[in-house]
Amino acid sequence: MSDDASPPSAALPAATPALSSAPLATAQQQLARAVEILGYDAGLHEVLATPRRELRVAVPLRRDDGRVQVFTGYRVQHNISRGPGKGGLRYAPGVDVDEVRALAMWMTWKCAVVDVPYGGAKGGVTIDPHAHSASELERVTRRYTSEIMPIIGPERDIMAPDIGTDERTMAWVMDTYSVNHGFTIPAVTTGKPLAVGGSLGRPTATSQGVVHTARAALRADGVELSEVSAAVQGFGKVGSHAARLLHEAGTRVVAVSDEHGGVRRDDGLDVPALLDHVQRTGSVTGLPDADPVTNADLLALDVDLLVPAAVEGVLDGETAARVKARWVVEGANGPTTGEGDRVLAERGVVVVPDILANAGGVVVSYFEWVQANQAYWWTEGEIAERLEQRMLASHASVAALAHAESVTLREAAMTIGVRRVAEAHLIRGLYP
Ligand SMILES: NC(=O)c1ccc[n+]([C@@H]2O[C@H](COP(=O)([O-])OP(=O)(O)OC[C@H]3O[C@@H](n4cnc5c(N)ncnc54)[C@H](O)[C@@H]3O)[C@@H](O)[C@H]2O)c1
Repeated sequence: MSDDASPPSAALPAATPALSSAPLATAQQQLARAVEILGYDAGLHEVLATPRRELRVAVPLRRDDGRVQVFTGYRVQHNISRGPGKGGLRYAPGVDVDEVRALAMWMTWKCAVVDVPYGGAKGGVTIDPHAHSASELERVTRRYTSEIMPIIGPERDIMAPDIGTDERTMAWVMDTYSVNHGFTIPAVTTGKPLAVGGSLGRPTATSQGVVHTARAALRADGVELSEVSAAVQGFGKVGSHAARLLHEAGTRVVAVSDEHGGVRRDDGLDVPALLDHVQRTGSVTGLPDADPVTNADLLALDVDLLVPAAVEGVLDGETAARVKARWVVEGANGPTTGEGDRVLAERGVVVVPDILANAGGVVVSYFEWVQANQAYWWTEGEIAERLEQRMLASHASVAALAHAESVTLREAAMTIGVRRVAEAHLIRGLYP
């Protein structure tokens, strides 16, 4: 099939209440609980639960050897009551529309919790990025961008990196969008390289936010990061910087993992050596002077702080029952299922939820978009200071509500996020 013969893009039917995938089930349960706390009626609940706009597109790729293969891509805008959609683009073999719906919904609440003027969106292509050359990934990215072009843009929906994509991907998206409009439009994506309007501090922002909220959660119990041990699951853009920043804060990082497996050293891993090792080999596995550990066992290690920073659903009822950490700070989106949450709460584990803990990325994405719109660039110090202020203020309001209402940090964060979105929706009114 030639590129021109690709099937037309198709709109999907509206999300049904049926919980057909684990991340979406988790996201819907979390929303239902917030709606219950807030006392909203069924109509408002349905508005908040239903994605505003969804697009499924065919992405035909001419492989390097001349064959043509067709992939499926999605862009879901869950809610745009508070501003344009905002959310990452994921390349992974398991991407499906329900996962993208869940991730888009979490973006809505996250942007509201840290009070950036965005709604929530997410995109994905069902593709294994490791199985393709850079030039194939570039063609996939450009074709996907051109297929979803009618619904994205600096005032409509702004993309950022997620699993399997990076700043180079964002440069291709920005270039494709710009070339089709005839001029350079940097604010259509965030997480871009500095050379094309990226922001200082963006590559480490999510991990910085994880460390700020971890520090705040520990301090609420009178403990410092320098006094604790930690395990980090996932060693990509979020996990690797989180491990490094924790190490720099004096935390004993005893275990890390990636999709190939993990390594542990009870006296503490040499994190700079680990970063070198990953740079050379592409994986944390095989690190000298460390023992192997599986991803499942890493979650159950005898550490104080656990940072899941890989994929959804790793802490379910069963794995949560084995967690020994006192604090779980969610670098990943949706790492804890509803049942996992219940088990952790019962056992007194403090969970700093994803929509707060990993919001540093979207905060600095917002800074990048503001800088691009003004064509005026801030210093690294200004960005770091404003990120820290916003993360600590957001954590403080979530923690205060949790304390006042005797609810978990997740319930408090969801309540704040959902209330802000509902307020915007109600003030704007229902058209027509
Ligand atoms: N990049 C951001 O700015 C950002 C912001 C907020 C949230 N997040 C979330 O953080 C998580 C990680 O994103 P990222 O950007 O670091 O992605 P990434 O692709 O850079 O890294 C993902 C890491 O997880 C590992 N991994 C994948 N599957 C795994 C599995 N089944 N078990 C253990 N490890 C596995 C990979 O090997 C890799 O080390 C995702 O949930 C993402 O949605 C990312």
